Amino acid sequence: MPSHEPPTAFSAVLRSASSAEHEAAEQSSFMSHLLTGRLGRDAYAELSGQLWFVYRALEGRAAELARHPVVGPFIDSALFRTAALERDLEHLRGPGWRSGLTPLPATAAYTARIEELAADWPHGYLAHHYTRYLGDLSGGQIIRGIAEKTWGFERKGAGVHFYVFEEVGNPAAFKRDYRARLDAAGLAMDEVERRRVVDECKRAFTLNSALFADLDTRYPLSA
Ligand code: HEM
Repeated sequence: MPSHEPPTAFSAVLRSASSAEHEAAEQSSFMSHLLTGRLGRDAYAELSGQLWFVYRALEGRAAELARHPVVGPFIDSALFRTAALERDLEHLRGPGWRSGLTPLPATAAYTARIEELAADWPHGYLAHHYTRYLGDLSGGQIIRGIAEKTWGFERKGAGVHFYVFEEVGNPAAFKRDYRARLDAAGLAMDEVERRRVVDECKRAFTLNSALFADLDTRYPLSA
């Protein structure tokens, strides 16, 4: 007999399906070194620089995506991080921050995937939107505290603007609302499409881990 049970909320499916990938990203060598305060300021500056390429890709087609029936409700200028990263990079690398900043191979692969999806498959783009912004609103807050302590940035100031969502009043309430939007998006897709989006979410985490691996090669801990 066909089941008439409502499908598990899409937000819960995304979270549980990507939990192993989340753990892998969190426990990656680069993140572990960052979380234990063992990286230099230069490594942190490089992470910020690489994230600038990622957010430029995520936010580059926002105006177009805002008109998409399913993805549109997620496009919210309160989340945009490109300008915050630029302020951080000016502090970290100086006024000429853009010169000499190049995407690492993993960053290039990651941004190419986001750009492809933003143009051709907005539901897939949503998986990337979720992976980055909900992560920034969650674990990102832990990273901010560590960065302030390790490299002496002013609390919520220059160097860590990326982690400060000034226009998101209450992050816990925002995340609840975001999850409700994810649940509605899931209901607008059929099961095959939902599965494809879940797979893309795992891929988004893996692309982040690959970026951390690239950074780790560049900034190994000195013995
Ligand atoms: C430094 C390592 C990290 C730590 C300590 C960390 C920690 C956390 C914590 C504590 C939560 C739960 C927050 C809550 O339920 O309100 C969370 C959620 C999340 N994190 Fe991370 N995280 C880390 C790295 C990452 C990375 C690298 C990504 C992806 C790029 C990521 C993406 C997410 C997402 C998407 C969620 C939301 C899960 C959901 O509720 O649906 N995290 N993280």
